[in-house]
Amino acid sequence: MSQRLSQSKLLAWYAESKRDLPWRNTNDAWKILLSEILLQQTQVSRGIAYWKKLVARFPTPQAMADAQVDEVLLLWQGAGYYSRARRLHSLSLMVCLPSNEGGYDGRLPQTAAELLKLPGVGPYTAAAVASIAYGEPVACVDGNIRRVMARQSKNPEPSMKEVDAWAQDILYGADAGNWNQALMELGATICTPRRAQCTQCPLASSCKGRETPTAYPLPKKVKRKRLDLQCTLRFDATGKPELVQRGSDGILAGMWGPPMAENLNTEGLELIGIIQHALSHRDLYVEVWLGSCSKGTDPSSVALSSLAQKILSLGE
Ligand code: ADE
Repeated sequence: MSQRLSQSKLLAWYAESKRDLPWRNTNDAWKILLSEILLQQTQVSRGIAYWKKLVARFPTPQAMADAQVDEVLLLWQGAGYYSRARRLHSLSLMVCLPSNEGGYDGRLPQTAAELLKLPGVGPYTAAAVASIAYGEPVACVDGNIRRVMARQSKNPEPSMKEVDAWAQDILYGADAGNWNQALMELGATICTPRRAQCTQCPLASSCKGRETPTAYPLPKKVKRKRLDLQCTLRFDATGKPELVQRGSDGILAGMWGPPMAENLNTEGLELIGIIQHALSHRDLYVEVWLGSCSKGTDPSSVALSSLAQKILSLGE
């Protein structure tokens, strides 16, 4: 018979074993928000360097609101999911409006319900920031927590509603920030997708899925679309490439790179390679065609996507 999950064991394990991550040494809601937005789709190990750069350049919402979105994209370069950077900039503008114009006078709102109204802030981020920065007793739910829940309950396909209800039920409300982080930390370091370390787990005694952890949860089927594109890589006489900024809609919005589109005219150019590149829901196949132009752009002066960097390195 399995037991009820032990809050005290998990909190004691977290206090003892948590990773020393830089955003865990601040109470500043803005800095915590930056970490949570980054960590949504960027691994912790890579996120640290981006977080340090962002916090140094934009220590407050006002510092970001005073900057152009292109500068935020430049700092975000290489982290992927660039729409996050664009929404974060919109968020800073909204937060810095005066309260009589629908803003927050430069300070982040202090409840999950208010945070949820900001651009780019979904239920996860709102609950994470409200609990970690302000101690609000709200449970947050991410992929790590869903995996812990699926294994604890031996439920192969828990819906978000079920995970939410579970997380709210077991929440340790007196220290919700540490509680939420402890559950995520457990999923990130012990209750991992492929190699769960059940013998080290503080919640092993209540875990119904312990015998076959990798069976829970079942992998989600994501439909990926293939997209075939042409890219023209043109260099000027000094070796600088032609670079253009992508529009504000569609893939890699706002990022810079050589011209790239479906059915781009490549007449008179030489095919030098095909690059495969995975985005969140798309597999790109990019033909790269070499040519020349009259005046290029210095690549270090603009925000290049990782794909654009790969393309440029083909021409080296
Ligand atoms: N993943 C995203 N945010 C996290 C946090 N604050 N602690 C642990 N893992 C996380």
